[in-house]
Amino acid sequence: MVIAIIAVIHVMISHFAIGGGLFLPMAEAKALREGKPEWLKKLKGYSKFFLVMTGVFGAMTGVAIWFSIGLASPSGTSLLIHNFVFGWAIEWVIFLVELAFAAAYYYTWNRIPDRLHLRLGYLYAGVSFLTLVIINGILTFMLTPGETWLGVAGSGQEASVFFQAFFNPTYWPSLALRTLVCISMAGIFALTVFSRLDGEKEGKIKKQMVQWSAMWLLPSFFLMPFCLGWYLWMVPASQRELMSLGISTIGMGVFTQVTRMSLITLMTSATIVVAVYLLAYRNPKDFRFGTALLIVFLAFLATGATEGVRETLRKPYVVTDFMYSNGMRKTQVDGFNQTGFFAASPWAPDKGKITAETSETNPSYALHPTGFRMFAGQCMSCHTTDGYRSMSALLQGRNEESIGNILKMLHAPSGGSPYQAFMPPLVGTPEEIDALRSYLHSLVKGGN
Ligand code: HEC
Repeated sequence: MVIAIIAVIHVMISHFAIGGGLFLPMAEAKALREGKPEWLKKLKGYSKFFLVMTGVFGAMTGVAIWFSIGLASPSGTSLLIHNFVFGWAIEWVIFLVELAFAAAYYYTWNRIPDRLHLRLGYLYAGVSFLTLVIINGILTFMLTPGETWLGVAGSGQEASVFFQAFFNPTYWPSLALRTLVCISMAGIFALTVFSRLDGEKEGKIKKQMVQWSAMWLLPSFFLMPFCLGWYLWMVPASQRELMSLGISTIGMGVFTQVTRMSLITLMTSATIVVAVYLLAYRNPKDFRFGTALLIVFLAFLATGATEGVRETLRKPYVVTDFMYSNGMRKTQVDGFNQTGFFAASPWAPDKGKITAETSETNPSYALHPTGFRMFAGQCMSCHTTDGYRSMSALLQGRNEESIGNILKMLHAPSGGSPYQAFMPPLVGTPEEIDALRSYLHSLVKGGN
């Protein structure tokens, strides 16, 4: 959840950084062409907001993502770094150039010739779009690494298929989708800035600017459904099944996250379009800051739900068909079952050491050290003991035998088990799995 909150904010700002980068010079060009000096003044204000949002909040949340994913998923993070070393290096050089252009653009308003200033704006737009061109390859790789990369994965030859992994099956539809989101974000944030213009004193210019900003939502309105369809079509059937699994079990109240999140995306997006049309486009002079903030909040929900769907589609993998969400590789499963999880896993915590501190804060740990470490190593990337997706709630009312049966299913999933679709196989020797069972049972409140 920490990753999700940071990442959703980052996704909004980073897309804004690209869309807004195009919005500014396009608005500036329009103002110069049509002789609207008062627009230029307002655009300077917008570019200050832009610089602070992207340069401070965008950059901070970006670094925060690295901190949080490195902690939550060290092996997944390491895999991405090693496979795309040059991708990352290029990305960071571009970030530097991008930030420099954003600052130069803001600080040179009215100081250099108009044409040159405009050119700086377009340069910024081009460079910031390149950041998407690169990160998009790495993000889509995780969902659809593609046959070629999977063919050499783990062999040490991954670098030889860099471009096949980078331009993977969902690369282009995702680039199209994200570009649309960038354009919409530019419109939504421009609406927030221009909503603050005084409808009485600056009625005419407020009307012009609010209406022009509202139009930036049109490309998404018309093209988003097609791009979304294209994207889902490129997702492997095995992962797309997770969506229908959600739909077919909606009545039972299990595994419905994907469906629920898709509905949130649809509803919030529709509400944004209607609200922008009725409240901003039709009544630009009365369009208020509070309303604009509400639209930003809806965009936050839509972004969160959509990214949530994308992440859930990948379950139980962090890199589809190669590495599970808990960091285990598919190829390691047999070895873990034979030699034991602790013998083979580099992430298994220090064997058998219980400090006074851990036994105090976590009494179950003291009683079931092996079981707890199995849980920490294999389940805790998705479950907690008492909080989010908690074991004590999910296992409520079960006795030790039925917990054992669940673990049996997780260990040797039979075809068609819904568990298999969301969770990695449970690995380990029979003794380790028994230890996990006792530990899990100790979490059930009022259990017998
Ligand atoms: C990749 C993420 C992920 C991992 C890793 C994971 N789970 Fe789950 N698990 C889920 C999801 C998603 C659900 C469905 C939750 C819901 O219905 O709210 C779930 C549900 C469950 C349930 C409830 C099943 C039911 O029928 O109600 C149990 C029990 C469970 N997990 C145990 C485990 C154990 C034990 C491990 C470690 C060996 C584990 N999980 C690892 C994602 C995961």
